[in-house]
Amino acid sequence: MNDDSSSVGPAASGAKQERPRSLAQRILDDPVEVLVGGLFHRRLHPTLVETHRAARLQSTDPSDLLAELLPSGEPPIGSLAGEFEEAARALSARERPGLRFAARTAFLRGEAWVLYALVRRQRPEVVVETGVANGHSSSVLLEALRRNERGRLTSFDIEPGAGELVPPELRDRWDLRILPARRPAPAFERAMEGLERIGLFLHDSDHSYEWMELEFRSAWGKLAPGGFLAADDIDWSYAFIDFARKVGVQPYVLVEASKPFGILARAAAKPTATPAEPKGSG
Ligand SMILES: C[S@@+](CC[C@H](N)C(=O)[O-])C[C@H]1O[C@@H](n2cnc3c(N)ncnc32)[C@H](O)[C@@H]1O
Repeated sequence: MNDDSSSVGPAASGAKQERPRSLAQRILDDPVEVLVGGLFHRRLHPTLVETHRAARLQSTDPSDLLAELLPSGEPPIGSLAGEFEEAARALSARERPGLRFAARTAFLRGEAWVLYALVRRQRPEVVVETGVANGHSSSVLLEALRRNERGRLTSFDIEPGAGELVPPELRDRWDLRILPARRPAPAFERAMEGLERIGLFLHDSDHSYEWMELEFRSAWGKLAPGGFLAADDIDWSYAFIDFARKVGVQPYVLVEASKPFGILARAAAKPTATPAEPKGSG
């Protein structure tokens, strides 16, 4: 599975450092990008080459990301893969014609697998997602929490009736919040203020620059040490790349069906130093 040929661009490399250029140098290097790009930056879309440049690792193979994000621990990734297959089969069996949201809105399999493994391994108490639609990602996250026998998922959408695919037996760990469609921001920000120590935050809602930025800003400070901020469709705007740069964290990017899904890992808490033995004790 860990096949280099599946990587987009150079295979998993360590942190890449790009030398910052002065504004004058950037204008000299590429005046069109600086002048036009500066004006329309929030309406432009990064290419996969740009997401790769910004990333710590970009790959088409979920195993590459999991090897970096979950290097060792219990349960082994192999045993989780079997569980995930079972959950994915049960979810497909619930799909039917006439669901409220188009099938193309659904989460892709590799993305779902990465999220499932993160939740099973990290065992978070608090998981948050935005963008429920028929409930593909919600079902996968809730199934992982059910297996963990701990944690709750808070999901946000603006459409009443979102989440049809989530079965009754997975709903007891679920807080589904429907935001006012015309002005979702105040209710979303208020709800986020009430959440603490988020182990995983997943963005899959409105992909405009402004909304993505608002979500990332609300979520980042609330992430538990070692927590993850994940976002689908990070090529719909520069919001994810810009945010990653702003907080100084290089993303892990999974490219599936030509679309990039990004993850930022928040640094784990530093172990507290053991106080030195007082001299002459004992
Ligand atoms: C791509 S779909 C989500 C797919 C879902 N994650 C899945 O796996 O099936 C996007 C969803 O975001 C919702 N949405 C759009 N704007 C939103 C906002 N500002 N806040 C929360 N949800 C929003 C839409 O109603 C839609 O259900």
